[in-house]
Amino acid sequence: MTGKLYGIGVGPGDPELLTVKAKGMLESVDVIAYPVNRRGEESTALEIVREALDISGKRVTELLFSMDPDDSVRRICRSVAVKELAGILDEGLDVAMVTLGDVGVYSTYMYVDKEIKELGYETEVVPGIPSFCSGAAKARIPLMIGDEGLAVVSMAKNNEGSLESALSGFDNVVVMKAWNSMGALLESMERHGMGKNNATVISNIGMEGEYIGPLDTERKYGYFTTVIVKKGNGEVE
Ligand SMILES: C[S@@+](CC[C@H](N)C(=O)[O-])C[C@H]1O[C@@H](n2cnc3c(N)ncnc32)[C@H](O)[C@@H]1O
Repeated sequence: MTGKLYGIGVGPGDPELLTVKAKGMLESVDVIAYPVNRRGEESTALEIVREALDISGKRVTELLFSMDPDDSVRRICRSVAVKELAGILDEGLDVAMVTLGDVGVYSTYMYVDKEIKELGYETEVVPGIPSFCSGAAKARIPLMIGDEGLAVVSMAKNNEGSLESALSGFDNVVVMKAWNSMGALLESMERHGMGKNNATVISNIGMEGEYIGPLDTERKYGYFTTVIVKKGNGEVE
């Protein structure tokens, strides 16, 4: 009998935010697989797991998912990773592929899930707490309140179009992958009649170097940086 693949969201950084269900599944599987962008790279998702439970008796395997700008390179990498996973499932072993935050929020896992299912294996997705929910809770700001809406966009490569429509159409916008685009983000906000006071930066939430504060275009932020933009002050009328 072949094994089953689990896509597990491990939360944004604080190991206590790994759900009871995720912890139970991680304890029960034979193999933990973690995605990296470069061979030998540290994995924040795996570190969270290590802090939350003892995985010393488990097989742990790295899967390379390149973030090369060339789509074809990324696709080739993915198909190699899918083959590696299929090989482990064929040994009859259950595998958990871990992902930071939630599995459905900009995670490579969902591509893998589709391809593995198409090959005939069984899969299951276990949600995690998304970084922007955790950051909003720490910053004590509502993501949306009353009848407000929320858009979630990514500042990664040439995505100005979706940022612009989100800023014009929504009361609240979560801007992910914003770390090196603060200047461009502020310019877009200004075009929509907003300023720095409308933004809260949440960076490295639940990790070393956590920062919750105003948008500062002079400051250097790391990759784990998200901005919550609010048109109003978040208070219920
Ligand atoms: C590839 S996406 C992964 C999102 C993740 N699946 C989630 O549910 O939050 C990476 C982006 O998520 C955000 N992010 C992830 N972890 C974060 C953290 N601990 N603090 C702030 N933002 C974080 C940042 O915007 C980062 O650029």
